[in-house]
Amino acid sequence: MSDAPRLVTCGLPYTNGPCHFGHLRTYVPADMYVRYMRLRGEEVVFICGSDNHGTPIVVSAEAEGTTPAELSRRYHDHFDTTFRRMGVVFDHFGMTDGETNHRRTRRIIRALEANGHVYAERVEQSYCSSCRRFLPDRYVKGLCPHCGAEARGDECDQGCGKHLEPGEIREPVCTVCDTPAELREQEHYFFRLSSFEPFLLEHLEHLKGTANARNYALGWVRDGLRDWCITRTLDWGVRYPGREDLVVYVWVDAPIGYISFTEEWAAAAGADWRRYWCGGAEITHFIGGDITYHHCIFWPALLEGAGYGLPNAVVASGMLKVDDHKFSKSRGYVVWTNEDYLDLGLPADCLRYYLVASTSHTRELNFSWRAFADRVNNELVNTFGNFVHRTLHFAHTRFGGIPAVEAGAPVLEAIRDTLAAVDRAMEEYEFKVAVDAVMGLAAQGNNLIQANAPWKLVKTDPEAASRVIADALQIVKALALLIDPVMPETAARIWSMLGQQDGVEEHRLSESTEPLEPGHLALPAPLFARIEETRLQELEAVLEGRVAEAERRARCEPDGEAPLTIDEFARMELVIARVVSAEPIQNSKKLLRLVVDIGAEEREIVSGIAGFYAPSDLVGRDVVVIANLAPATLFGVESRGMILAAGDEASLLVPLRPVEPGTRVR
Ligand code: 2FM
Ligand code: ZN
Repeated sequence: MSDAPRLVTCGLPYTNGPCHFGHLRTYVPADMYVRYMRLRGEEVVFICGSDNHGTPIVVSAEAEGTTPAELSRRYHDHFDTTFRRMGVVFDHFGMTDGETNHRRTRRIIRALEANGHVYAERVEQSYCSSCRRFLPDRYVKGLCPHCGAEARGDECDQGCGKHLEPGEIREPVCTVCDTPAELREQEHYFFRLSSFEPFLLEHLEHLKGTANARNYALGWVRDGLRDWCITRTLDWGVRYPGREDLVVYVWVDAPIGYISFTEEWAAAAGADWRRYWCGGAEITHFIGGDITYHHCIFWPALLEGAGYGLPNAVVASGMLKVDDHKFSKSRGYVVWTNEDYLDLGLPADCLRYYLVASTSHTRELNFSWRAFADRVNNELVNTFGNFVHRTLHFAHTRFGGIPAVEAGAPVLEAIRDTLAAVDRAMEEYEFKVAVDAVMGLAAQGNNLIQANAPWKLVKTDPEAASRVIADALQIVKALALLIDPVMPETAARIWSMLGQQDGVEEHRLSESTEPLEPGHLALPAPLFARIEETRLQELEAVLEGRVAEAERRARCEPDGEAPLTIDEFARMELVIARVVSAEPIQNSKKLLRLVVDIGAEEREIVSGIAGFYAPSDLVGRDVVVIANLAPATLFGVESRGMILAAGDEASLLVPLRPVEPGTRVR
């Protein structure tokens, strides 16, 4: 344990959509880590906030018909509340659009300029001649110049995952109007990232955290770094100092939020933020693995360039899959934290446990409701909950509470072994190993009770039975302390069922082997409820419905095109037309030349229905035509419209009741 002040941060969620399980994959282990360090006796400040700038927010606000500021405030509050509901409790949860962050970002830019790390250059950027605007980040899509995958704006999210600089994307297309973009020159500001290569190699060699983050980042630096464009042509964001037409790129002001939010916390707590950000502190960033580049390359270089302290550790979580599918909101493979879980009354602790216990932090986690239910039922209900409940129940019914007997040496040793195993695992960010060790202690407790059968022993040797129950109660106490980082509500309930009046978080892990005060215990309540098969099927059905709905939408929107709007539909002039005459077209087996009356006029339409109708069958019939289709010439006849028919046999659409020619179809 070092004396350096400790700061832990979590990646900032964008304020353009609700919290889902993919988010929690990072936040829950971070919260577990902070709670653990505090129980170990360390002072830790836990900082996060929302990421309000950048094109993701502007695009979403435009789609909703609101402002980026309104959208950000709404989702900021949503994340703040949701994290608390999940037991993820930050010391401060700020906003990157807050005044502190605007100010800190401008100061850092000025420091970078003063230190010679920024230069201006005219560069080619994607420009949409139809929207008459430059196309920053999410406003442009095309092909990744590195791997050829379809990519959007500033990242190759479907392919190699690389950061893309403005103007780099190949075959750029405007995401708003689908017009191929052209390249136009514009002045932008660049950070001399390439000159930080030696610094980053040195920094990354010593960076703690998970090996995935460090190793990827070292590889990127060894491949060579290019200077980084740090401005965008956008209204929303932190104004670049001295330029009314440019804002700072979101990946500059977002991590600066870590500093600004520490400033805001410090101002309220009467602390000094400089203790954390001017060197000498232990800063740990918890992030999703997909933003490793930003945290291990851009961010330390910015801090170094502007003269701030550096992070000690980057802990990068693996991605979340849903039912073996890549996480995707548009394809329906998403599970929402409130709507699909908390709002149904499911306990935050069970999900926290599942997220940590399923797999190693750096691996991909394949979520399924069945795997979730299995873990809850087998591990939480049958092992952990069962042991705690039977111990407390037996102590209550047979001894009226905690007997005045101390736990034996073997049990104390088993607890010490668990404490050591958990500590090693937490130091290595192996959260699953830690939680497995705690469950192992609960299993030992169950074995102790099973092997000694105190309910029988009490009849023949009550003293021996009280020793067994004292051992078991000592394990329950240790479990309350050890499980608190993962399942804080559960730990609080055990603590109170043990007759303790204060909060478990006010204690230390080292007390796990200290004896419990003898005393009365109330009748315990079960800790967890089973997830029954019917409940499980309901949960699965929601997800299946979401995927089916997404598939249906995708079928209606081939290639991801936007659905037809009511205005677009209204532009189609669908009218009732009466066939005045019909005749074959020479040299064509398929086409008929029809003259139709559409009320205001008669016109010629060429229709491919010759194989299905004799001309005489059609005369006098009322059909539906699109009257405002662009004219086309077929076999020398100009066709001005199209007759609607369904299926392979061209069944004509006809009105059920008589209507006048020219009547609009709606
Ligand atoms: O990828 C994201 O969701 C970003 N909003 C994370 C920002 S983390 C930090 F750098 F601010
Ligand atoms: Zn790529």
